[in-house]
Amino acid sequence: MKRSLKAIILAAGKGTRMKSLLPKVLHGILGKTLIERVIDSVFKLDNVDECIVITGYQAQEVENHLKERYFDKPITAILQEPQLGTGDAVFKAHNNLKGFDGTVLVLCGDTPLLSGKTLSEFVKTHQDSGSALTVMSAIFEDPGDYGRIIREKDGGVMKIVEAKDANEQQKAVKEINAGVYCLQWQQIAPAFFEITADNAQGEYYLTDIVDWSVRKGLKTSVFTIENNYEIYGINSRQHLAEATKTLSNITIETLMDQGVSFISPENTLVSPETLIGQDSVVYPGCILEGENYFGKNCILGPNTFVEGDVKADDNVKIIQSKVSDSYIGSNSTVGPFAQLRNHAEIARDVRIGNFVEVKNSQVNSSTNVSHLSYIGDAYLGANVNIGAGTITANYDPLTRIKNKTRIENGVKIGSNCVLVAPVTIEQNANVGAGSVITKDVPHSSLALTREKQKVIENWVEKKLNKLNQ
Ligand code: UD1
Ligand code: CA
Repeated sequence: MKRSLKAIILAAGKGTRMKSLLPKVLHGILGKTLIERVIDSVFKLDNVDECIVITGYQAQEVENHLKERYFDKPITAILQEPQLGTGDAVFKAHNNLKGFDGTVLVLCGDTPLLSGKTLSEFVKTHQDSGSALTVMSAIFEDPGDYGRIIREKDGGVMKIVEAKDANEQQKAVKEINAGVYCLQWQQIAPAFFEITADNAQGEYYLTDIVDWSVRKGLKTSVFTIENNYEIYGINSRQHLAEATKTLSNITIETLMDQGVSFISPENTLVSPETLIGQDSVVYPGCILEGENYFGKNCILGPNTFVEGDVKADDNVKIIQSKVSDSYIGSNSTVGPFAQLRNHAEIARDVRIGNFVEVKNSQVNSSTNVSHLSYIGDAYLGANVNIGAGTITANYDPLTRIKNKTRIENGVKIGSNCVLVAPVTIEQNANVGAGSVITKDVPHSSLALTREKQKVIENWVEKKLNKLNQ
């Protein structure tokens, strides 16, 4: 039987220590926002019927982000204004949860490294134990600002004390509160009417429900996690950098175990959503963000920036380039210094060379765009050769319309041509170097728009003679 589960994610705080105009939870970590990472882990649990996000500071921005990213998911945003503490934040969900007779999983929007696997073990342990409340903890050598788990002599949990409220003895405790809780809502809900803001920060502390639960004689448990890094909370830019490095390092370790080479792992960042096939080599300076797939024997880098939604088949080479939202077929090469974006579809055996930009275009097999070209809103057939410095002039700034260029199989475009869209170059046609093409070119013909070459013989001699007179 599936047991009913709702999640509450606390995301109303300003994140003062970030010193940012952006709400803390909208800061990015390897291609996803902090809150996306938390929500994605929550939705890895298979029985979540609602995810409530408590918003406050710049609520509208957070809500817009959620709507855009999770339009098809059961997410409810609830405003907490003013922000009176984590206990007050959960209390805001009270009306929504009236009559709910299941488990409420509470998490913070600023702990992006928590895995779906750990959450699932946590929820299962809580539900199997029959506890009214379970707190997630970790053992830290340097417990810093985290709340401390204070245990009774027999090992049972007694309460949580915030670092700011702790005495020396409590401060020395190394077991810390991860800020993740499972509550049996019907049993714990009354606590939110009783907790007070009588503490160092003058806030309603969510952590006070532990003490409350123990005093009521309810079964109150602690679940200690193994991978400490997972509960890492982001409160500053230093924390964000640290978390980014940690997440990337774990991913790189896993990929190396699967047979991928990293020449200099410490100089490489890889999102956990990036899959890379066996015997691929990743050179230093690569940043691979978001969701990507690379096949076997790929070569990435040096200094390649992958922004997400990239799929590349086997034997693809991308050198010193920027790629996002694109597909690259097997044996194709991109770069150095190229950019593929906005739905570039590159088939197999294609060469996209140096200083070439491809945007929203389809490039078919064995076609070369080798140097200094812009291919935008275009269809390129197979076996096409695009000479250096060719531009598809797709944009009409007066109408603001982007027009299409169609270049069919076997076409050869000479160097330094402008193809003014909308225009079609039919199969096997040739365009002479330096041409500006404004009309369709029929198949197998040659189009040329340049001036005939003039030659003035002995011009240099004549000029010099004139100067010396
Ligand atoms: C909290 C815990 C602490 C724990 C730590 C783990 C409390 C009182 N303390 O401390 O024991 O070790 O998390 O990371 O709970 N928020 C709101 N509304 C508010 C206040 C905060 O939604 O009124 C949100 C914040 O946006 C944030 C989360 O709650 O996502 C945690 O708040 P934060 O101020 O970062 O708490 P910590 O001091 O880290
Ligand atoms: Ca925090």
